Parts: sequence; C-alpha cells; structure tokens
Amino acid sequence: MKHSFTIVKRTQASPSNVIANYLDIEHMPFHTGFVGCRVVSETSRVACFEMSSKVGPFLVRNVHYYEYRPPNQIFHAIKSPLGPMYIVSTVEDADKESPGRASEVTVETTLDMPRLLFPARKLVERLLRRLNDAVLREDRLVLERRQALFGDDVEDYLREPQCLLFKEAFRQSYSKKPSGGRADTAAS
Ligand SMILES: [Fe+2]
Repeated sequence: MKHSFTIVKRTQASPSNVIANYLDIEHMPFHTGFVGCRVVSETSRVACFEMSSKVGPFLVRNVHYYEYRPPNQIFHAIKSPLGPMYIVSTVEDADKESPGRASEVTVETTLDMPRLLFPARKLVERLLRRLNDAVLREDRLVLERRQALFGDDVEDYLREPQCLLFKEAFRQSYSKKPSGGRADTAAS
C-alpha cells in the first residue's frame, strides 16, 4: 500500500554543487551512522550499490538503485525493510534572478508498505523526515562551505582522481571548460 509525501528544502549552494554532492559517494563517511558502501554495478547514468548504516541501535544494510536524470534530477529506489521506497529529488535555482547561489530541492518519496505496517505510515513519515533533516544538516556543512570558497565552480570534482558517479553526464551538464565539453543544462 502506497504512502507518498514531499519535502522541500533550501540550501545556500548552487544546483551544480548540490547535484555533485548527490553523485560524490566519497563524501558518505562524513555522514553520521554511515558504515560502508560498495558499488556493485555502474553505467553512464545508473548505479546499483549496497549501503550499510547505523540507525539507532540497528545496523541496516540496503540495496540501492540510483539513476541520474540530467541535468538536475536523481531517481533513487531502495529495497528497505519497510517495503520498496522510491525517491525523486529535483534541484532548482532558488532564485531565478540570481542563479548559481542557492538551491531549492524537492524530494518526493513513495513508500510501498506491507498492509500490516500501513497504519504506522505517519510515524514512518515523521522518522524519514527527521532522517532527511539530519542528512541535510550534515551536507550543508560541505555545500555551504564549498559555495563560500568556490561559488558554483565544480571543476575539481571532474579531475581524474576524483570518484564521482556518472562523471561524464555531470560534466556535460555543469562543466564550464570547453575541453571538458561545453556546459549544457538542457535536459537530455
Ligand atoms: Fe551527503
């Protein structure tokens, strides 16, 4: 039985920085509760990975399907103990008059719960909202510091040694260097 809810959040960082943060799995150890991540399979825009994290006293290990929909959307499906969960995150400039400074992120979550757990859906939603707030607080430390130092520049993510999921697709959308492909923010 499906339960859906939407979270809208703002951060003082450009959409390019926010999307890079979604694709930069190397920053995951900065998150509280993170235990481990292993990429099982990766193509140009889709990856499957296992992630282990501590939620309260529990060690939770989930399989994740992660899809980048250039330029500004992530589709994320998780096989969770509460049932399959589908999350679509869309990143937009918060202020269209001054792009590249702040973002509005809309996170649409659908949880397909077993009938037995469905009466607890509001409680589950509250827990997921709280978890989302905690992750955002930790990401803000990285995002807003980056924005203060580098603005919306993301070329450092594109250097050879950096491991960014779907690097070429990200480069095509956000790189400003002609040698790395022209910046092109049109959806493809
Ligand atoms: Fe993060």
